Amino acid sequence: MDRVIASFEQPEDQEFEGLRPGRLSEYIGQTRIKENLSVFIQAAQKRGEALDHVLLYGPPGLGKTTLANIIASEMGVSIRTTSGPAIERPGDLAALLTSLEPRDVLFIDEIHRLSRTAEEVLYSAMEDNCLDIVIGKGPSARSIRLSLSPFTLIGATTRAGQLTSPLRDRFGVISRLEFYSTDELLEIVIRASRILKVELSLDGAEEIAKRSRGTPRVANRLLKRVRDFAQFWGNNRIDFQVASKALDRLEVDPIGLDGLDKKIMMTMIQKFDGGPVGLETLAATVGEEAETLEDVVEPFLLQRGFLQRTPRGRTVTSQVYLHFGLPLPANYQQGLFLENN
Ligand code: ADE
Repeated sequence: MDRVIASFEQPEDQEFEGLRPGRLSEYIGQTRIKENLSVFIQAAQKRGEALDHVLLYGPPGLGKTTLANIIASEMGVSIRTTSGPAIERPGDLAALLTSLEPRDVLFIDEIHRLSRTAEEVLYSAMEDNCLDIVIGKGPSARSIRLSLSPFTLIGATTRAGQLTSPLRDRFGVISRLEFYSTDELLEIVIRASRILKVELSLDGAEEIAKRSRGTPRVANRLLKRVRDFAQFWGNNRIDFQVASKALDRLEVDPIGLDGLDKKIMMTMIQKFDGGPVGLETLAATVGEEAETLEDVVEPFLLQRGFLQRTPRGRTVTSQVYLHFGLPLPANYQQGLFLENN
């Protein structure tokens, strides 16, 4: 069977098909990014050109893939979707690039995981719309240059810092997606409930929004699971009572911390005196990949002020003790961490 190197759909996102907004006007939040993209898209269209290459970065679940698809729709072009790890050989990338129609979008998710050799193919493709291909081996090897249709590369990554600078420098638009406010998540939950035809009260929706970790993907997932509980309890309407009882059952606390968040912070307190503890040590202690901690768990905890990064590792802040109702250790005074270790 052929290896799949590109597709129009990503398995992890299929659950949310139908909930994803298809146009910029339906996309809630990320206001600045949306407004700027709208300008760049309209300007490129007026000139009849491909949109410049776009890099979208930020924690998972904030809508990078959704935005990539919206950009292609707004430009009125097709999108080919692939990911860094799916491209094993430079030839995989060459095959994709040569199949694009003028102005099409090539979307590479997890672009930081592209191999070095594949990345080098991208340089000339992005800059000069051409591919340098080496044919043959040894002394008879020669290089030919293929020209490509003008295209837009959209790269998405949770790790902008891991991109090499030659690659990063070739993106004309670089946008960092931020966590969503509770009000934005509320709008997203209400929109999703209409699409899913779930009856939802305002306070029920607010409860789901508040516990969604600033992340639309989490909001949509929680809405679906709360809907399951509502149905199971013979009550097809989600109100505050149903939402909060269901979310408690899902071990999502009132500000959205889940089981893994709690495990990490409690481990830091109980086993490492609140830190500093190195990422690898912490990951091994809780039995998770360091990459999962860094990309998935930590960004929200840092943003909420529960964790701090120091040169010697991660530390919990006094907020964590307050949130879990634990007595503050002596080295935390008036909410300030006085470094003494
Ligand atoms: N569903 C998931 N993310 C969304 C967003 N940003 N706007 C509207 N609906 C969404």
